[in-house]
Parts: sequence; C-alpha cells; structure tokens
Amino acid sequence: TETVPIPEPPGLPLIGHITSIDQTYPLGSFMDLAEKHGDIYRLRLPGRTVVVCSNHALVDELCNEKRFKKVPAGALKEIRDGVHDGLFTAYLEEPNWGIAHRVLMPAFGPISIRGMFDEMHDIATQLTMKWARYGSSNPILATDDFTRLTLDTLALCAMGFRFNSFYTQDLHPFIDAMGDFLTESGAKTQRPPLPAWFYRNQEEKFRSDIATLRKTAEEVLEERKSGESARKDLLAAMLKGVDPKSGVSMTDQSIIDNLITFLIAGHETTSGLLSFTFYELLKNPTVYRKAQEEVDRVVGKGPIKVEHMSKLPYISAILRETLRLDSPIPMISVQAIEDTLLGGKYPVHTGEPCVMMIKKSHTDPLVYGEDSLEYKPERMMDENFEKLPKNAWKPFGNGVRGCIGRPFAWQEAVLVMVMLLQNFNFVLDDPNYSLRHKQTLTIKPNGFYMRAILRDGLT
Ligand code: HEM
Repeated sequence: TETVPIPEPPGLPLIGHITSIDQTYPLGSFMDLAEKHGDIYRLRLPGRTVVVCSNHALVDELCNEKRFKKVPAGALKEIRDGVHDGLFTAYLEEPNWGIAHRVLMPAFGPISIRGMFDEMHDIATQLTMKWARYGSSNPILATDDFTRLTLDTLALCAMGFRFNSFYTQDLHPFIDAMGDFLTESGAKTQRPPLPAWFYRNQEEKFRSDIATLRKTAEEVLEERKSGESARKDLLAAMLKGVDPKSGVSMTDQSIIDNLITFLIAGHETTSGLLSFTFYELLKNPTVYRKAQEEVDRVVGKGPIKVEHMSKLPYISAILRETLRLDSPIPMISVQAIEDTLLGGKYPVHTGEPCVMMIKKSHTDPLVYGEDSLEYKPERMMDENFEKLPKNAWKPFGNGVRGCIGRPFAWQEAVLVMVMLLQNFNFVLDDPNYSLRHKQTLTIKPNGFYMRAILRDGLT
C-alpha cells in the first residue's frame, strides 16, 4: 500500500506545537486545528506526539481493542500521582485494574444502582429546596450547584459520607483540594519543560492537596473498618469483594485510590451533563415543553419513584443528545498496540498516543446528516439510537475501559431532571447568553446562569 505521512501543522523547534494550544481552552485549539488540517493530524508536544482523529471512520478504528488500548495521557497521567493505578488512570496491564474492575462491576450493576435511589433522592431534594428558597429573582450559577449535587451524591452513595455542600458556606477541604489537584494536573501538561525548581511552589501545593485527598479517604476507610456498618455501598463492595479470577481482595491502598477516583471521575462529568442539558432546554423551547409534558404525564405531581426512571424515553433522548454535542469528556486517548495504518494509509507506530476527538466525530455529517450541529433529541429516541453505526456515540468511552459509572450517572441525571422539571419553570438569566465553554479535567458551560420559578408548591 501507498502510505501518506500524517499532516502536521507548522511548529517551532524544541517546543513543537505547544504554542498552538490555548492554555485555558485546549479543546478549542484541537477543534480549530482539525478545521485547518483535517480529520487527522499530528502534534508535537514536550516529550510526546499525539495523533488527533476527528471523524467517525477514524474513531471507529481507534475503538478496535485488538489494535488500540487506552493510555492515561495528558492530565490523566498526572492524576496518577494522586490515585496511581485506580480504575480511571491505570494502564490495562496493571493487576490492580483487573482486580478492581472485576470486584466493582457488580457494584455498579442495575440492582445495586437501584438500591442507591433513596440516597440520590435525598441529595436531589436538597438542591430543589435550596432553589425554591432562593426565589425566582436570583440568578443561579447552574454548574456550581450541580457540582455540589454530584459530589454530595457520590460521597454519600460510594462511602456514606456527607459533604453537606448545600449547608455550608465553604466547601469541604477535600473538595477544594480535589479542584486544585485537578487544575494543577491539567496545567502541568501545558507548561514549557523548564527545570523542576521553576515550578517548586506549584509542586508543593500539588503534594499537599494529594495528602488532603488521601487523608480524608483513609479516615473514611478506617472508620468503616472499625465499626459495624450495614451499608451496602461501593466501599462495602470493595472491602468485602473477592476477585473471582485471582482470588484476592483489594488492598487498602487500592480502595483509597478508587474512592478518590469515583469522586474525580463522577462529579464534573455528571454536573457538566446536567448543566449543558438545561442550557439546551432553555435554547430549545419546543424540546423543553415536550420534556415537561413527559414528566407531567409519567410522574405527575406525586413522589418520584425508582420505577419511573425507565419510563421517560424523551428525557433519555435529551441526555443522549446533550452528550453527543457536548461530551464532558471530549477527547479519549489510546495507543497503537503494534505499528499500523489509520485510514488504510497513515502510519502510526507502536505506542504512539492517538486521540479520539469525539466532540468532532459526534457531529460527523456522514453519520448525523447535514443538521448534525443542531440539537434534536428526536434522533436519539430508542428506535433511532439503536440504528446508529457502531461507535458513532462514545461519550462514555470504549470497551473494557468504558465508564463503569454510567448507570450511576444515568439514574442520577434522570432523577434530577424529573425533580427539577416537576417543581420549577426555568428561564435564562440573560436571554442573550450563548454557550461558552470552560475546561478543567472536563468541559462545562462557562457563566451559565438561570432562574428557577416554582410551578406550584414543592412536591
Ligand atoms: C471512565 C465518561 C460518570 C467513573 C469514563 C470514560 C469516559 C467517562 C469517557 C473513559 C475515559 C477514558 O477512556 O480515558 C463519563 C461521563 C459521565 C461519567 C460522560 C457522566 C455523565 C461517571 C460516574 C462515575 C464514573 C458517576 C463513578 C461513580 C468512571 C471510572 C472510569 C470511567 C471509574 C474508568 C473505568 C475503567 O477504565 O475501568 N467515564 N463518566 N464515571 N468513569 Fe465515567
């Protein structure tokens, strides 16, 4: 076969393409470069190269687990300093990944997630109470309160711990430490490669944040081990579980790694999903009306029950469509297992990191048509969703390294949507606001304010 070199934007000697990447919104730069250089291009960053793939056909190839495997690259690699070979940041070969994966799969299964409904409901009620009391004239920074919601829900359902973020002025020290730890993990990947002492202050703060995270998780673990708890949460599953393959249990270190991992992997993503969804509802009044109608028809004014969760097809379609256009995790890194050709002609060498730019492949007109940039939940109703080509919708990642928390996130997101639509009418605080993005480890709306007007009393 004729091979063709992968296009590379012009770069500078020594530092390569790092100056082409915007430090605060790298995703925007990756998108612009795709517009300019096409669906496949290579970047040279300090100490690594990366091949960026932006259409469905190429992403489909990268999803082939015989040819490519996940590599913790960029910020994920830096996060390893804090959570090591936890599920999200592990290399596939690391034994702790397999052990934790097999021990935890049942804990994230349908029965177990249904069992978490009441605690999810508890935290969602705290959010609705807050917004009801806030009153309809006060702008709500949606993403901030959704982040309080998702963090509190995870900590409660994973380990029976209450951050009480809705009741305290200052966030729990764990939350501040985690935010700074994630920001610094991202910043590290964007810096020019100067000698370590240039960054010694940042490094010291980084280490102290990691210590705070681990100390908190360790205290929760020790307390659980010392008492008699009847809780059936993720922590219990990790303490009691035995890996069917190796016959071993998870070590304390691995349990701590994974407790912190759930909070990292699960809070910003779900908060971003809810924030983007409310933005889209407010920009698309017909969709909003249909969503509210479905909630009124299926749930009505009464209490929300776990049985309702599977009976809201339009709400599901809305969440899917939001994740298509605005995936909180817009890029996923894999590496070639052997030398290979992408698209039948572009050589990629063993171990080279390749990025699935799902933010772009999710709008590939060959899959989604000429209106691929428009928000249309109808295309995500079950009958259409099931007919999508393989790997056309990847917001939860791929294969064995796909998101273990997906059923958790789904139940939480549906529940919160229902509770909010049932109780409030929402309006944009600034009718002219149009979506801006903010990038930390994940992508969220920036400066998105809405107002919540009670429909009747609280249900
Ligand atoms: C993995 C997305 C919610 C825990 C992933 C990956 C994606 C993703 C794209 C793969 C990352 C990669 O390949 O590098 C999302 C989205 C969510 C969400 C969009 C919400 C809407 C959650 C929640 C939890 C969670 C709630 C925990 C309760 C994890 C873990 C992994 C993971 C542990 C690593 C799995 C492994 O490699 O074994 N998620 N996630 N996620 N997610 Fe989620």
